[in-house]
Amino acid sequence: MTMIVEASAVKPANLKADHLAQDQSTTTTVGEISSPNPRMVCRDINVWYNNNHAIKHVSLDIGKNEVIAMIGPSGCGKSTFLRCLNRMNDTIPAARVEGSITLDGQEIQDKGIDVVPLRARVGMVFQKPNPFPKSIYENIAYGPRIHGLTNSRAELDELVETSLQRAGLWKEVKDRLDAPGTGLSGGQQQRLCIARTLSVSPEVILMDEPCSALDPIATAIIEDLIDELRQQYTIAIVTHSMQQAARVSQRTAYFHLGDLVEVGTTDDIFNQPKHKLTEDYITGRFG
Ligand SMILES: Nc1ncnc2c1ncn2[C@@H]1O[C@H](COP(=O)(O)OP(=O)(O)OP(=O)(O)O)[C@@H](O)[C@H]1O
Ligand SMILES: [Mg+2]
Repeated sequence: MTMIVEASAVKPANLKADHLAQDQSTTTTVGEISSPNPRMVCRDINVWYNNNHAIKHVSLDIGKNEVIAMIGPSGCGKSTFLRCLNRMNDTIPAARVEGSITLDGQEIQDKGIDVVPLRARVGMVFQKPNPFPKSIYENIAYGPRIHGLTNSRAELDELVETSLQRAGLWKEVKDRLDAPGTGLSGGQQQRLCIARTLSVSPEVILMDEPCSALDPIATAIIEDLIDELRQQYTIAIVTHSMQQAARVSQRTAYFHLGDLVEVGTTDDIFNQPKHKLTEDYITGRFG
């Protein structure tokens, strides 16, 4: 059954990657996995979907106030790894996660952890903007309300405004807060989703290909926003665009068939990669 799911999900680029993996073992990560100032520390993470070993012994720190880009061919495990960071794999019945992941020193893998506040602390922005079928105001107010973050309507109004301001959307929507969020343009919807994530005071923001459905102008706005948000938040972003990774991140992690092959400063990964698989990928030889 797993084989059937996999075969239909794997794209041609991945088949090529399979050949390479037979030639070269990639179990030891090249480069510095640690951060001098870590916010999240992942050690020996393994993820299986039934028998499919999708993440293999991955260890990586995510530093404070950094943007770390996750790159690699389709199916290499980027989204799976990202979902480990806020226990989103719990929502996939076939998924099993092992290893240690701490957030500010606290183990998030513990069974007793309440994932609702965890997912506020480690928020997620998806590939396709997914506003709730509610007004712009309600899209932002919903999270603070369920987490009990404000005491009055005035406080909630203020939080809605500051969240929209931080996401660079306030000026465009301040006169139509009661209009449906789904009526905004794609780029505006994505900023609405970022504002929604910011409204519950996250420490870490996970972004899985946040610009892949956007045009270059909307992409540039989101990229500028990511750079600004870095001052206050830790950001892990999955992207298929090497240009985007180079523009927005300070560190880059290259995944291949479930292995974390190489991690380093974004400059080093793109200008002097140490592993042949990384070099092949960034020079466009596959993927
Ligand atoms: N919900 C799921 N159920 C079963 N297997 C899954 C599921 N999600 C991912 N996988 C499998 O796990 C492996 C890694 O997939 P993942 O989606 O993490 O890759 P990715 O690097 O994000 O790919 P892409 O660039 O295409 O988004 C693949 O073999 C995939 O088929
Ligand atoms: Mg993915």
